[in-house]
Amino acid sequence: MAIKSLKIQNIRNLSTLDFFPSHHVNLLYGVNGSGKTSVLEAINFLGLTRSFRTRKFQYFVSHGQPESLVFAQLQKKGAQGAQPLGVSRDTSGNVSIRHSGSNIDISQLASLVPLLVINTDTFQILEGSPSVRRQFIDWGCFHADQGYIQAWRSFKRVLQQRNSLLKCGKIDPQIRLVWDAEFVKFAQLITQMRQRYINQLLPDFLAISQRLMGEVDLSLSFSPGWDQKRPLDELLDEQFQRDLKQGYTAAGPQRADMRIKIDGVSATERLSRGQKKLVVSALKLAQGALYNRHAEDGCIYLIDDLPSELDAQHCQLFCQFLEESESQCFITCVEPDALRDFWREDTEVKSFKIDDGQLSESFKAQ
Ligand SMILES: Nc1ncnc2c1ncn2[C@@H]1O[C@H](COP(=O)(O)OP(=O)(O)OP(=O)(O)O)[C@@H](O)[C@H]1O
Ligand SMILES: [Mg+2]
Repeated sequence: MAIKSLKIQNIRNLSTLDFFPSHHVNLLYGVNGSGKTSVLEAINFLGLTRSFRTRKFQYFVSHGQPESLVFAQLQKKGAQGAQPLGVSRDTSGNVSIRHSGSNIDISQLASLVPLLVINTDTFQILEGSPSVRRQFIDWGCFHADQGYIQAWRSFKRVLQQRNSLLKCGKIDPQIRLVWDAEFVKFAQLITQMRQRYINQLLPDFLAISQRLMGEVDLSLSFSPGWDQKRPLDELLDEQFQRDLKQGYTAAGPQRADMRIKIDGVSATERLSRGQKKLVVSALKLAQGALYNRHAEDGCIYLIDDLPSELDAQHCQLFCQFLEESESQCFITCVEPDALRDFWREDTEVKSFKIDDGQLSESFKAQ
């Protein structure tokens, strides 16, 4: 899916912004505070009804305005006409998602506009809590497996139910058996899908990281959230008294994680900042590559300040991947020339200058 045209209203310092992006590479440049990240945030809002920078809408909507709106014409690969999509939200919390004349829900929207964001938060895949890595895996499972969202929602409901019973401090043994059976059923289902996804992702991740970083001994392993040598029902039984005391369930997919090592050592502890950026980018690029192979259409990359932390050679390698992916990319940078010369002649690259919330297309000097 590519964005053919985009209209942004009342997002941060972007009061009204209208443009026709390239189907492939879009470079957005401008000085600090000009509004580059806000354009990426607006596209994120189009695909997920929220910002990637803040949970509080009041900071995202332009100061003093009642509503944020992003409207796009989406172009499906090989399709004739474009599909209109409009997402808006007002300060009272009312969200509207209109696609080709109908209301759609958030999960339909997320699968319609598959976004992959690479920004400073992406470092959290290495440095942050397991929940960040679970989100990373869940993005892949959601897009790879139609049944995942349903299984995940069912599991979450059972987990909440079990935890609230634990918090009461007393559970009827018969009721516990029923909930534990449900818990095990969905836990296994989710875990199979997550494991399958990581297995599929691994070859892409290793190949991409090797091209970006040279010969490195990287490994990626998945831990499902409990000791796989033990049946989960047995473990729940065994840990029941402890769970009761703590008021929550200790073992299960809610504790799943992913470990990345280099030369057998934690990548977080070993790698430099630039190397970390290459590893987390390789993870996201691998997700995109896998998505693009299985889906009818390509994903959309939002890459904030691509050159930061990277030398020119690594920037160029990164750009080569984006070029080969054929995905639509929105890439920000401060300097107009930072990424301009990294593309083949036949790649459709558009450059946009952002200046105080205003956008203008700039053409390469001959
Ligand atoms: N709710 C808001 N209403 C109006 N303006 C805002 C709001 N929130 C932030 N701004 C302003 O929007 C501008 C754009 O911020 P943005 O982060 O997009 O800049 P940027 O071009 O990415 O800068 P940098 O190069 O420093 O990353 C900033 O000047 C900021 O102060
Ligand atoms: Mg920025």
